[in-house]
Amino acid sequence: MDQGWQVDQDKCKHCGSCVDVCPNRILQKNEYGQVFFRDDRLWMCFHCGHCMAICPQEAISVPGLSYERDFYPQPKMDGMENAQFTHLIDSRRAVRNFQDRAVPHEMLEKIVAAIQSAPPGFPPLKTELVVIEDPVLVKKSLPVMIALYEYLIKAMANPIARQVVRRSAGREKFIVLQKHVIPLLINRMPDLKSGKEDTILRHAPALILFHANRKSENYKPDIYIALTYGFLAAHSLGLGASAMDLIPPAVEKSKELRAMFHIPEENEVVASMIVGFPRYHFQRGIRRELKSVTWL
Ligand SMILES: Cc1cc2nc3c(=O)[nH]c(=O)nc-3n(C[C@H](O)[C@H](O)[C@H](O)COP(=O)(O)O)c2cc1C
Repeated sequence: MDQGWQVDQDKCKHCGSCVDVCPNRILQKNEYGQVFFRDDRLWMCFHCGHCMAICPQEAISVPGLSYERDFYPQPKMDGMENAQFTHLIDSRRAVRNFQDRAVPHEMLEKIVAAIQSAPPGFPPLKTELVVIEDPVLVKKSLPVMIALYEYLIKAMANPIARQVVRRSAGREKFIVLQKHVIPLLINRMPDLKSGKEDTILRHAPALILFHANRKSENYKPDIYIALTYGFLAAHSLGLGASAMDLIPPAVEKSKELRAMFHIPEENEVVASMIVGFPRYHFQRGIRRELKSVTWL
C-alpha cells in the first residue's frame, strides 16, 4: 500500500463512517472490522478529504492532506438555517447601481473566503481570482472595454469579419452576441463613449474576475458555482453585486486589460462580478418560475 494512505489502527474505533462516505469506495472493512484502504482503488482517490473530515478519531491519512492545516471544526446545523437562507435568497437582487464609495478590504476578504468554500467538481480548486478593490483601476479599464466593443460592433457589420467572430465565439455565444449584446451596445455606445452611462462596469467600485488555466479540467462549472457563492456572500454583508457577462470577453481579448489585471496568458477569464454598496433598496422581490419542474 502507498504509505500516504493510512488508517491508524490504534486510533480507529471501526465505526465505518469513512467507508460509507468515500465516494469511490476506496476504504473497506475486513472480516475483523478493521478499516483499510484498498490498494487496487487508490488511483480513484481524488483527495476530496471526506474520509478525514468524517473520522471522529482523526485516524486517517491521505497524501497531501493534514488535519492541522486542511480542516476546521464543521459547525452543526441549529435548525434556523432554512429561514435564514430563504431570507438571504429572497432579499437578493442583481445590483447595478452603487454608492460612490470603495468596498472595505475586509469585506472583500469575506467574499473571497465564501468563494473559496464553494464545492469544486473535484479538488484541487482550479478557480483563480483577481480582486480589483481600487475603484480607480476599475474605472481605468472602461475605455479599453468600450474600444473593444466598438471594434466588435464594426466586425459584426462586416460579413467576413463576422464569420471570424462566429468561429472564435462558438455557436451559442455568437447567437447571444448577435441577438442581444450587439444591438444593445449599438444603442448604448453614444452614452457609453460620452461617459453619460456605464452599461459595462455600472460604475462599480470593485470587480472580481474569475479565471482558470484553459488546460485544467471542467473549470467552468466550478467557476459559476463559486460566482454564486460570491454574490450571495456580498449580499449577506449588505453589499450589492451582480455577475457581468460583458466583462470577461473584453478582458479575454485585450492584451492591455490582461496586463492591467494580471491575467496569465494561459488562463481564460470565465466570469466576473461587480460589487459595491447598493444605491437603492428594492421594495419587492420578483417571482419567477422555472421553465418546468417534473416530479416523478
Ligand atoms: C451569469 C450571469 C451573467 C450576467 N451578466 C449580466 C450582464 O452582462 N449585464 C447585466 O446588466 N446583468 C447581468 N447579469 C444579471 C442578470 O441580468 C440578473 O441576475 C437577472 O436579470 C435577474 O435579476 P435578479 O438577479 O435580480 O434576480 C448576469 C447574471 C448572471 C447570473
